[in-house]
Amino acid sequence: MTAAQRINGALRRVPTGAIYIVGALPAFWFLYLGLTGGLGVEPIKALEHELGQFGLKLFVAVLAVTPLRNLTGISLIRFRRALGLLVFYYIALHLLVWLFLDVQIWSQIWADILKRPYITIGMTGFVLLIPLALTSNDWSVRKLGAARWRFWHRLSYPAAILGAIHFVMLEKTWQIEPLAYLGVILVLLALRIRPSRGRVTA
Ligand code: HEM
Repeated sequence: MTAAQRINGALRRVPTGAIYIVGALPAFWFLYLGLTGGLGVEPIKALEHELGQFGLKLFVAVLAVTPLRNLTGISLIRFRRALGLLVFYYIALHLLVWLFLDVQIWSQIWADILKRPYITIGMTGFVLLIPLALTSNDWSVRKLGAARWRFWHRLSYPAAILGAIHFVMLEKTWQIEPLAYLGVILVLLALRIRPSRGRVTA
């Protein structure tokens, strides 16, 4: 038995429900830190940042599932839906913190979405995630058919790129960390292209 088969055997014993529970917990931890002074002098900004960063990290994890299987044989496919929905959960919380704790003024919110390019780009990424989150269930897969469902779920690729570009644009100068996220996302997407047929693996 290969190492990958042993790992896959162990992974099969992990219930997917555990991923939802464990994955959702850091948001409560960030909130607790914010309320108890653990996020520094600007807790709202820090909370916004923690949620955005965690969402982007999970996005990288989701995009790594297929290349990991193709390159090593280790399959996390069973957990991909949970990880994807957790991305949506963190980015939605990130957006809610921005709306209700950071900006708060509705006229200002529209002005920011329309006039600040990094917000426009982040918002576009988030909007692309909405249909994906709504159709991440067995009923939608049956209704759309697996092939069409997979096609539409490729919207996650531009959403991830937009999320990373949004992070790059936040900084006034070129910073390594956001560029590294963007680079890793582009590499993970490039790894899905099958050179022989130029096709993309889901
Ligand atoms: C796919 C969608 C998105 C991703 C992956 C994402 C990710 C991130 C990341 C990683 C950061 C930087 C965290 C840090 O500096 O440590 C950030 C900051 C931020 N994001 Fe997002 N974000 C997304 C969508 C949005 C949306 C929809 C909004 C609001 C409309 C938004 C508003 C902000 C704001 C205001 C900041 C902080 C800017 C500052 O430092 O003043 N983001 N985001």
